[in-house]
Amino acid sequence: METIRVLIAEDEVDKRISEIGEQISKDYAGREAHLICVLKGGVFFTCELAKRITVPVSLDFMSVSSYGADTKSSGVVRIVKDLDEPLAGKDVIIVEDIVDSGRTLSYLKELLMGRGARDIRICTLLDKPSRRVKAVNVDYTCFSIPDEFVVGYGLDYAQKYRNLPYIGVVEGVE
Ligand code: IMP
Ligand code: MG
Repeated sequence: METIRVLIAEDEVDKRISEIGEQISKDYAGREAHLICVLKGGVFFTCELAKRITVPVSLDFMSVSSYGADTKSSGVVRIVKDLDEPLAGKDVIIVEDIVDSGRTLSYLKELLMGRGARDIRICTLLDKPSRRVKAVNVDYTCFSIPDEFVVGYGLDYAQKYRNLPYIGVVEGVE
């Protein structure tokens, strides 16, 4: 039977998001932050983070998916849902659930830089640095974790467990 082992408890996650929210509020003093939530995994983190940022925030959403297995190494991702707002002149923060190989975010950052944003930073809930194949500069990281498959706080296993209010590891999978 599938069970979930708690890796990072709810209060720890909340506390850390508050710290990152404070840091962003300081770093963006006198500016506005345009948060781009990467769907679906980034949605819980984006909401919690946005509530803790004290400078003016605007939000947009994007959904991407990797191409099939054979083209995976190219790092090209397909845009499933594009942004609604233009990026020209904006200070953008891409908000992700997890940076794993780094392919998604390095591609996304390149792509969005071409749209005239003034600045693009990356903020992630989780980072698995040991899995990186594509270098990507992550500006804000809540937690670095070992190479384990995690769920909760937006992250899924076969579309389940996104709603868990903590980060957990799936166990007992055949
Ligand atoms: P990357 O392009 O390899 O960095 O892929 C990142 C994407 O893979 C994330 O946005 C997640 O959707 C997914 N992913 C990577 N590791 C995990 C995990 O441990 N649990 C759930 N999804 C993951
Ligand atoms: Mg994702």
